Amino acid sequence: MDGFETLKGKYLGAVASAASESALEEVRLAALGKKGEISALMSTLGKMDPDQRKATGAALNILRDEIDAALRAKKSALGDAALDERLRSEWLDVTLPGRPRRMGTIHPVSQVMEELTAIFADMGFAVAEGPQVESDWYNFDALNIPPEHPARQEHDTFFMHRAPGDNRPPHVLRTHTSPVQIRAMTEQGAPIRVIAPGRVYRMDMDQTHTPMFHQVEGLAIDRNISMANLKWVLEEFCRAFFEVPSVELRFRASHFPFTEPSAEVDIRCSWTGGQLKIGEGDSWLEILGSGMVHPKVLTAAGVDPAQWQGFAFGMGIDRIAMLKYGIPDLRAFFESDLRWLRHYGFAALDMPDLAGGLSG
Ligand code: PHE
Repeated sequence: MDGFETLKGKYLGAVASAASESALEEVRLAALGKKGEISALMSTLGKMDPDQRKATGAALNILRDEIDAALRAKKSALGDAALDERLRSEWLDVTLPGRPRRMGTIHPVSQVMEELTAIFADMGFAVAEGPQVESDWYNFDALNIPPEHPARQEHDTFFMHRAPGDNRPPHVLRTHTSPVQIRAMTEQGAPIRVIAPGRVYRMDMDQTHTPMFHQVEGLAIDRNISMANLKWVLEEFCRAFFEVPSVELRFRASHFPFTEPSAEVDIRCSWTGGQLKIGEGDSWLEILGSGMVHPKVLTAAGVDPAQWQGFAFGMGIDRIAMLKYGIPDLRAFFESDLRWLRHYGFAALDMPDLAGGLSG
């Protein structure tokens, strides 16, 4: 049986050195395939005499089984190696932080609206809305500004066209968010606690004025609301918004037709080396108008001034955005310059909330 030992050595050697599954398959075909060497030897058994056939057949069976076993073992080893190699080459660290993709930025005005909404929501204020094209009744009359009142001129109003022959007073682009006071009280009655952020329009354009800008109106009506509540709410808001431990506000007596008494509010700040700091220093910056809602305004909105009272304020959103984020020129807010937006914009997925820190 010497010939079989040589065959065995040849094929086991070939199996051992087969480096791939296809090389291994070639070895299998050469040995055990239909036309393979072992199969050919098997087919010679028929011509042998019975004793020889028995001995040779048994030896060939053993040889075939050994080669077959070697082939199977090698095949599974190659399979394991291939899997290991794939696992190695396709390995990836799923714990690595994702690479941020630029997907546009949030405009500072939108960011500040989200921030102030979060702060006022925490104090129990809901968000109310009104149209930007407003009737002159909501924008003026209901707010105690009758047609001949000088405040109408001060508002630099944009008027909408009426159809020719339609002599009703024209609609206006709202000059402030105060008409939302009337709409909210008419819809919801008292008590009520709302803010109304949004766009307003005045015919004005210079370094510190644009014809469209943003205000947030605040309104709180209940049975005993006073100027003291107004002061606390505004201080609390400024502390949270500017993210400083304390702020100082200055209330200056003022006049608005829709509040009595009325006050304009300044915030203490310092300018050192072009850097603005809130809460310290010797400068004051005006940020809002406010007061106790005039009884005539309550009446216009269907709220009984004998039972209800409260405060209102109107704050410039663009102004406080400039203050908080050190943005020098108001006009750049609305020029849609991508370089400006990339510089001053906020990451799209960072939603401000009080727990996570407002401005991230
Ligand atoms: N509407 C006023 C303005 O635009 C601000 C204001 C609102 C004042 C509410 C008092 C109360 O200047």
